[in-house]
Amino acid sequence: MNEGNVLHIEICQNATSTLSGEVIKKAVNAELMSMNEISLDIILRGKDFVNIIIQNHIESIICSSNYVEKGKIKIQGVVIKYYIYRLTQEGAATETIKYDSDELSVASHWVLPAQEFHYMWENLYYDCDIKNNLLRFVETTMLFSDLAVNSNIISWNKVVLLHGPPGTGKTSMCKALAQKAVIRMADRFTHGELIEINSHSLFSKWFSESGKLVMKLFDEIKNLVQDEKSLICILIDEVESLAHARKSCSNGTEPSDSIRVVNALLTQLDQIKQYSNVLILTTSNMTEAIDIAFVDRADIKQHLGYPSEVAIYNIYHSCLKELMRTGILESEEICDISQLKLFGYTEDSNTKNSLKLLELSRGSEGLTGRTLRKIPFLTHALHLCADKTTLSKFLKAMYSAILKVQQENELQP
Ligand SMILES: Nc1ncnc2c1ncn2[C@@H]1O[C@H](COP(=O)(O)OP(=O)(O)OP(=O)(O)O)[C@@H](O)[C@H]1O
Ligand SMILES: [Mg+2]
Repeated sequence: MNEGNVLHIEICQNATSTLSGEVIKKAVNAELMSMNEISLDIILRGKDFVNIIIQNHIESIICSSNYVEKGKIKIQGVVIKYYIYRLTQEGAATETIKYDSDELSVASHWVLPAQEFHYMWENLYYDCDIKNNLLRFVETTMLFSDLAVNSNIISWNKVVLLHGPPGTGKTSMCKALAQKAVIRMADRFTHGELIEINSHSLFSKWFSESGKLVMKLFDEIKNLVQDEKSLICILIDEVESLAHARKSCSNGTEPSDSIRVVNALLTQLDQIKQYSNVLILTTSNMTEAIDIAFVDRADIKQHLGYPSEVAIYNIYHSCLKELMRTGILESEEICDISQLKLFGYTEDSNTKNSLKLLELSRGSEGLTGRTLRKIPFLTHALHLCADKTTLSKFLKAMYSAILKVQQENELQP
């Protein structure tokens, strides 16, 4: 099969819908076959379709291809893969461990796919193939495990390390990747579980006990891993706090608590990798502080940096669309980046505002994704008087907000 021709169709069925997957698939397939081409990586809302089944039972449809990003793809000749899922509505549960008389909150626990992480993946924008590569990493991990590839010959640890400056989407990407993997591997897993380890809680107030707490936590995780139909994603945010470089924390003869924690973590990682349904997702913005043996175990070390002009345009575009959806901005046409490219970046009444946004994006380079997503809020709060406004007025005010944020950034050491 030519993978380049695979069209992935992710269908989010309403939580209350009890229709069978087959009926849903048939309705969406009929709709697709009546189209010539379809937009990629765009959230198509069920309520906007004419087909009554789609309208009443489907929240959204997202089409994507591993090899073509954005724009449109011709339906003719492609192989279509369907993924139908329902979101769990519950938020995070807190996992606790009893230690002596204390109850420690050691992790947060979500059942995936979860409402909380819906559209997170689609709203993260990077330039190169970062997202596709991470997804392919997960798929390959599962494939090698399923086919029982001998790990003494080919080694992989199921560990991802995302690193880069604060606010560049590392934590969001881990959560979004876990959710995406569960949706895409529905034929293998009935659901997923995301366990976010609360690193700070593991440092015991009793000297030398923290290593034991790490082992206790992993014992609990190993219970979850026994369910082969569940994909267990372990998120260790700011991993340098658990896997602190051992050479920098030795204090003479007695191993410090930090060293015990690192040793325990490495041992547990080596044990848990034998399970085929486990993924370890970690983040750090201080890679130099991470123990070298941990870094060495990471299969993928992906740097996430400041968004480029195109990524910034996509972020702003998604923000403006959200303001239009909620009625804060009057609804107007605004091109996505592929349309703008198609129009040759020439100015006319259709592209005027979009080109202005491109100019603002260029002027916003050097800001983090976190700051960029704040700009529309600051624009509204500090630079506009009316509750509802037009796009062109909003863009003008955005310019002032960007300028203010940049001036504030210059004041920072
Ligand atoms: N490339 C990006 N595209 C879209 N949104 C982004 C991007 N980078 C960051 N964001 C947004 O910025 C916010 C912060 O992201 P997140 O908390 O994942 O960053 P982080 O790298 O984990 O930061 P920290 O190092 O401070 O923990 C989120 O709302 C996220 O959606
Ligand atoms: Mg983070």
